[in-house]
Amino acid sequence: MNKRQTRLFAIGATAVSALVFAGLTIDSHRQFPKLTQAQNITAEVKRGKDVWHANNCINCHTLFGEGAYYAPDLTKITQHRGAAYLQAYMRDPSQFYDEKKHRRLMPKQNLSDTDITDLIAFLDWVSKVDNAGWPPRPILVSGATLPGSDRPPQDVTTAAAPGLGSPPPGARPVDAGSNPIALGENVFRSAQPACSSCHSVVAGVAMVGPSLAGVADRAAATLQSPDYKGKAKDVAGYLRESVVEPSAHIVAGGTYGANGVSFMPPTYGESLQPAQIDQLVDYLVTLK
Ligand code: HEC
Ligand code: HEC
Repeated sequence: MNKRQTRLFAIGATAVSALVFAGLTIDSHRQFPKLTQAQNITAEVKRGKDVWHANNCINCHTLFGEGAYYAPDLTKITQHRGAAYLQAYMRDPSQFYDEKKHRRLMPKQNLSDTDITDLIAFLDWVSKVDNAGWPPRPILVSGATLPGSDRPPQDVTTAAAPGLGSPPPGARPVDAGSNPIALGENVFRSAQPACSSCHSVVAGVAMVGPSLAGVADRAAATLQSPDYKGKAKDVAGYLRESVVEPSAHIVAGGTYGANGVSFMPPTYGESLQPAQIDQLVDYLVTLK
């Protein structure tokens, strides 16, 4: 190529790239309302966003991976925790984590109940924005010290921590065939929200909910106890009740509920098929 051709080539290539760039930018903007589900931006969601900014939550947290990396990403938080838990948590985070054990704490934010409801609406809208599958694995505060580890708990992106959290969404379930226990274990990881985002089956690992290691034996003892408030008559019945009606009896010995309402979501009776609940119970009774 001579000099003139080189120049023309450079100008041409720049022009083509600029056009492609402009085209893609316009295309992205065209898709924003759909990807962000703009129709779901209610007045509550907008107020929640204002509360989020007014309190500088972003100084510690990230949304969509943007913000400060002191505290966990909250993009999908409402899909892992129920509203009852989030309300109680935001009212007073210190009840849920121990500064000595966890070495960092969320300071109390002095939010009103309306602020908190609006924040949850905002975070719920955030959780439904189409991020093309990001984050690939749930990012959660484990709230748990892994047995045999003196590391403070990290925000687990689950694969890193055995026994914690759920597999990436869309991960192929273990081929369970027709084995009800294995099918139940799959439901444990794939229910919405995943049971495994709040419960470990490793002994001693308490997250939002108690560890379910030995839950079947514990259930037998609970049924005998005068403190038991539910209606179940046997272990399988207790486990079923725990899943479909968590507030029937609230496990003692932790911050697991407030005003008689369990922090476990009350939605599984509807979101799971009856057969899936049977499989879950088949699985849970094996945790002795
Ligand atoms: C000074 C830092 C800081 C600020 C500011 C802050 N947080 Fe946090 N937040 C944390 C830390 C640290 C955690 C992890 C839990 C822990 O170790 O206490 C956390 C955890 C959370 C969780 C997850 C709880 C769980 O168990 O899954 C939610 C929800 C949350 N914060 C919401 C908020 C909201 C909403 C705001 C703003 C109103 C906010 N945070 C402001 C530090 C902060
Ligand atoms: C948002 C967190 C959360 C999720 C998600 C969750 N749980 Fe729970 N779960 C809890 C809490 C908190 C408790 C203790 C309070 C209570 O008794 O309801 C609990 C209690 C239980 C108990 C009773 C444990 C005992 O020691 O008696 C069982 C069984 C149980 N959950 C099973 C499940 C199953 C199965 C799923 C999924 C279908 C699930 N949980 C999802 C938070 C959660």
